[in-house]
Amino acid sequence: LKVLSVVGARPQFIKAFPVSDALRRDHDEVLVHTGQHYDESMSGVFFDELDIPEPDYNLGVGSGGHAAQTAEMMTRLDAVVADEAPDVVLVYGDTNSTLAAALVASKREPALAHVEAGLRSHNWEMPEEVNRVLTDHCSDLLFAPSESAAETLAAEGIRDGVSVTGDVQYDAVLRARETARERSSILADLDLRDGEYVLATVHRAANTDDRDRLEGIVDGLASSELPVVFPVHPRTEGALEASGLWSRLADAENVVLVEPVGYLDFVRLLDGAERVATDSGGVQKEAFYLDTRCLTLRDETEWVETVDAGWNVLVGADATAIRAALADDDPLPEKPSLYGDGSAAERIVAALSEYEYA
Ligand code: UD1
Ligand code: UDP
Repeated sequence: LKVLSVVGARPQFIKAFPVSDALRRDHDEVLVHTGQHYDESMSGVFFDELDIPEPDYNLGVGSGGHAAQTAEMMTRLDAVVADEAPDVVLVYGDTNSTLAAALVASKREPALAHVEAGLRSHNWEMPEEVNRVLTDHCSDLLFAPSESAAETLAAEGIRDGVSVTGDVQYDAVLRARETARERSSILADLDLRDGEYVLATVHRAANTDDRDRLEGIVDGLASSELPVVFPVHPRTEGALEASGLWSRLADAENVVLVEPVGYLDFVRLLDGAERVATDSGGVQKEAFYLDTRCLTLRDETEWVETVDAGWNVLVGADATAIRAALADDDPLPEKPSLYGDGSAAERIVAALSEYEYA
């Protein structure tokens, strides 16, 4: 079996890490990096520390508006798909890299397989919602992280090719947690102690591109009693600077702004945090896996099971609500098992192997 995997943004490198490893035991993988993320701290660091094979192709697309970025990815990827003639194109998540590859594959010979199928925020303002819905509707094989994701697909008329595999990011965290505890020196480097700080990440367009929301988040985080360590996504750095909010956050007594960190350092930070405040998709799940209380700085989430389980609270972007949620210390309920058993990658590879390609 020849699989052409397409990655491009930070969370996709992490999702590909367990899958590539499982895939390469018995099959050929061609790894394509679209170049959507390109800073060392957003891309290179993950390939170095996770032993992901170097991409066979880097399309070098870089940043741009949605149309220009997606179109450029499609044009460059189309040539690679034509040359490589894989049996299947494998895509992850909901970024512009995902959609570009889905459109290319669906108009060429290979089958299309989607990891993280069936997730919905039901918010069409989110670029990711458009990307994930369109990708699911073009896919031949759909790997759902939960039964409810598979039910969502069924409700949209997609039944063929769906397997419930669990979440590949659970596989990744299980592999990284102990290594992170052994190898990462991030807590000592930042003078932090386990259980005595809050971790924060923000990058969602709805928060960075709306000054009122960004200000609410800045003021909410700045009100924390515990130190807040905040690895700043480049998009957010730009937005904080453009809106004049960077210095308000940087000058807040309890806030420590750092560059985006590598995966092992991030897992260590999340593992040790008293709680996390985030608008990331992946971080909400990872918090759950690592027993860390999560405040989600959004009004809705795709990962509804974490909210239903009582481990994740939707707080939006209002300073007063964030402040209250940071102080809430109601005990957390028992943790159910969500999103599989840590063998999603194996299940995905098994389903890819068994599929009857045209
Ligand atoms: C993208 C995804 C989002 C995902 C996120 C993960 C889309 C539409 N969005 O958002 O779903 O959650 O990645 O982090 O695909 N930049 C740099 N260096 C980099 C990368 C980006 O400086 O290496 C800056 C550029 O100014 C760029 C901006 O960040 O314009 C946004 O980057 P982009 O890849 O378009 O979207 P993200 O916000 O990263
Ligand atoms: N992450 C990281 N370093 C950071 C912030 C996040 O390694 O400084 C990891 C995190 O562990 C998770 C992934 O990046 O696996 C989440 O990516 P992001 O929040 O950028 O995107 P999303 O999941 O929202 O699409």
